[in-house]
Amino acid sequence: MKDREIIELLNKMTLEEKIGQMVQVAGDAFLQADINVTTGPLKNLELSEEMLYNVGSVLNVMGSKRVRKVQDEYLSKSRLKIPLLFMDDVINGYKIAFPIPIAQGCSWNVDVVRKIAQISAMESNIAGANVNFSPMVDLVRDARWGRVMESIEGEDPYLGQIYSKNIVQAYQGNNISQLGQIASCVKHIAAYGAVESGRDYNTVDMSEREFRQYYMPAYKAGIDANAEMLMTSFNIINGIPATINKWLIQDLVRKELGFKGVIISDYGAIEETIAHGASKDEKEAALNAINAGVDIDMMSRIYANYLKEICLENKEIENKVNESVLRILRLKNKLGLFENPYGNTDIEKEKKYIMNSDNLKEAKRLTQETFVLLKNENNILPLNKNRKICLIGPYMDNGAITGSWSMFSDRAKNNTILDIFRNRVKSENLSYAKGTEILRTEEINKILKADGTPTIHIDNEQEKEKQSIKEAKEIAKNSDIIVLTLGEHYKQSGEACSRSNINLPENQVELVNELYKLNKPIVVILFNGRPLSLNNIENKVDAILEVWFPGTTGAEAITEVIFGDVTPSGKLTMSFPQNAGQCPIYYNHYKTGRPHTHDFRYLSRYQDIPTQSLYPFGYGLSYCKFKYRNLQLNKKQIDKNTTIKVSVEIENASDYEGYEVVQLYIQDLYGSVVRPVKELKGFKKEYFKPHENKIIEFKIDIEMLKFWNEKLQYVAEKGEFKVYIGGDSVKTLEETFELV
Ligand code: BGC
Repeated sequence: MKDREIIELLNKMTLEEKIGQMVQVAGDAFLQADINVTTGPLKNLELSEEMLYNVGSVLNVMGSKRVRKVQDEYLSKSRLKIPLLFMDDVINGYKIAFPIPIAQGCSWNVDVVRKIAQISAMESNIAGANVNFSPMVDLVRDARWGRVMESIEGEDPYLGQIYSKNIVQAYQGNNISQLGQIASCVKHIAAYGAVESGRDYNTVDMSEREFRQYYMPAYKAGIDANAEMLMTSFNIINGIPATINKWLIQDLVRKELGFKGVIISDYGAIEETIAHGASKDEKEAALNAINAGVDIDMMSRIYANYLKEICLENKEIENKVNESVLRILRLKNKLGLFENPYGNTDIEKEKKYIMNSDNLKEAKRLTQETFVLLKNENNILPLNKNRKICLIGPYMDNGAITGSWSMFSDRAKNNTILDIFRNRVKSENLSYAKGTEILRTEEINKILKADGTPTIHIDNEQEKEKQSIKEAKEIAKNSDIIVLTLGEHYKQSGEACSRSNINLPENQVELVNELYKLNKPIVVILFNGRPLSLNNIENKVDAILEVWFPGTTGAEAITEVIFGDVTPSGKLTMSFPQNAGQCPIYYNHYKTGRPHTHDFRYLSRYQDIPTQSLYPFGYGLSYCKFKYRNLQLNKKQIDKNTTIKVSVEIENASDYEGYEVVQLYIQDLYGSVVRPVKELKGFKKEYFKPHENKIIEFKIDIEMLKFWNEKLQYVAEKGEFKVYIGGDSVKTLEETFELV
């Protein structure tokens, strides 16, 4: 359609029809044989049937058949036949579940992240998705928050910018109506990852300078990459819920960052402004949200039931409604929905593209780059398959390794590690036992209860657990090496999964303690959605391979890494704390007046644990042994027109081949505001053959030295800087230079 026709269409719409476009409901409503808004799934929303057939978009309906059915049902009753928009949460893949976003980020490989986004976009687009509620680019520093699993950037704004831009581009391509492209909805605006004490939906209060320095860059990068949509966050930000925060939406996002697309609230968030005490009732919530500039109300009745009344009282609000509806219609037009309301859904294409073998093969390769080798004493890994291996632990024969957001992929069909080990290791060399469950019933029931699922009970659970551990120990006695699969339950990380204790479950720790007594090498494969506190097992095991929730091809990918077909190359994007008491913990923190540099009481330190993290940002081992030397700068001074060339020599002193992530950090030694101890400003993921030597080069320019000053200007200040290069954020070579 021409833009002129869109405007004509808008002019034909009644106020009710316009408001309908600004309402999003769960698409299931249209799948009921006899749609009944008073008893059906939309009962709580209290929508009239008339409003239902005016709504502009639906949530999480997938599958060519279902999507077509919903669209047909809707269009059959809608007066102006404006097609529905289908929006979905394809967070780590559609049918092929990829590693969860925090894991993807640990690949430090933009190509990996792009490829995952492309396959996810293709699969979900064919299955009917027009918009994806992704990427989530909330910077996170607190492992207690369950949603760290969704954060692509972890604790780093530089990674955040790069990933955000690339994912948006991969989803959208050059034309979002084309096969395999979807509109991207960057979320959650803003600073959702900074909720107090890691408790979901909680408060955020921070200086604007801090927000701009750390939290804003990834959102901005998504906007600059032309993301079509943004989603507001649940939290308040500096006293006002993000969803009705005029400074955030109008001044920053619309005016300063120039965002022209559609802004949607998070699930029910407009209504929640009443619970926040920021709107006195539903009508005021509607007024606050439209005034702030929210175009679509996701899953609450507020816009549907109050916008009309508000518009009739105030003509100016109707203008705002018109602006919002125009944005929504334009998005539908860009997606080509007026010409073809089914988008790229197609049953034949579903058969051809979804879960196809090429993509599954690719998925395995991509997954392998997300694993982080945290420990490898005496080079116990890679494993020799001719040794007697005993596979133990709750994830040994469990395919539920796709994470809590992979709602469209079939967990039950995934291979398990045991399946793959059986193909790989001679039966006489392989023994196995579960040893223990993921969680004791007491723990699992806490989760199930909140889900409204019936709780479970096991008679004599304690004895059974003891017996099971004993059996595992017996079996392990006859092996040379124990491969222990441990981790969180997939429902322990994700939305509403905040935890105050981020240790491994007690029964799993108990299993480690018992196996440790056998005095055999133990390799841990760790499944989890957040940095865990590993202090209580770390010194009892020889190797730890962090595999997060690796997705559909996880078991295959893990086995190949464990047996050395592929060298692990992931690096952490979040610091692993010593324990939850250290949270929030992040590498790019400010300098204190009393740094913990030596043993003395009155320093910024803990009495009971070290100050530094257990595993730092950027850390990850390899089967290769990388040696860094000879850090050189081609000159020692830089000004606004010049650059410095930095080079470092790296040797792979091993017989293995593999990738190394070479990281460049900069520190501004003093400034008008206190500057962080180190900030990532560049990285390269380089492939090394056995014993290969390479010179890796970077360029430093003035842009890399800029920061937000007290007056909220983005500036670089003259003075001394340090540059650090290394394979993580702690072990680095360093040099100084000056900005003149
Ligand atoms: C989450 C969003 C998600 C939305 C729709 C909300 O609860 O916070 O990230 O996109 O639901 O499912």
